Amino acid sequence: MRLYRAKDYNDMSRKAANIISAQIILKPDCVLGLATGSTPIGTYQQLIARYQEGDLDFSQVRTANLDEYRGLTRDNDQSYYYFMYHNLFKEVNIDMANTNIPDGTNPDSAAEAARYDQVIRDLGGVDLQLLGMGHNGHIGFNEPSDAFDKGTHCVDLQPSTIEANKRFFASIDDVPKQAYTMGIQTIMSARKILLLVSGAEKAEILHKALCGPITPHVPASVLQLHNDVTVVADEAALSKFDQ
Ligand code: F6R
Repeated sequence: MRLYRAKDYNDMSRKAANIISAQIILKPDCVLGLATGSTPIGTYQQLIARYQEGDLDFSQVRTANLDEYRGLTRDNDQSYYYFMYHNLFKEVNIDMANTNIPDGTNPDSAAEAARYDQVIRDLGGVDLQLLGMGHNGHIGFNEPSDAFDKGTHCVDLQPSTIEANKRFFASIDDVPKQAYTMGIQTIMSARKILLLVSGAEKAEILHKALCGPITPHVPASVLQLHNDVTVVADEAALSKFDQ
């Protein structure tokens, strides 16, 4: 595991964009696993700037997002499809046919999970998986539990996740209670993983995830078992490492 210490959120975003840019330059038709949330927004802005400067070409890049709220349509401004379209895809020369996100409107969770796992297999797997981490250590929407989940599945979001995500919705009652997410095994099958963490409120869980026991109660701790993980975290998120 490589750990890069960034000064702040902007520095973290720049370092992350450097790594993703290198991946795209070295393998123009690479498969990027993408994440939503606040953490990667700055990284996507950096990637857009590099595209605009002529340094990056997304024309052959393929993507598979980690997760999607169950029940939200693509045009719902809180759906992860909407997030990806507005924060990255519409700003670069990616072919939308090459982008993949679980279908939140599929009411049949078993069928959607099987379909999405097949999509990832058909892509030949993920070359570089970008991850954020929840306050409870979740990655994708793999919430703390007694066992690591394997493939794509439907999850009940934990109250702490609903609480953390309510900032994006008109009220807490509007936050979906379920989501489709890649499983831990899907995430661990990526050839490379890039975990981004920012902010003091994640310092404790980041320390547990990287230095504590590997346990499904801290889902991100499983990353200790992957042989190509890069963590880029800012000083605030790394404060527990200094003590
Ligand atoms: C998003 C995702 C989540 C987030 C996590 C952190 O696609 O899978 O695991 O990465 O909830 O969210 P932020 O970045 O908003 O703190």
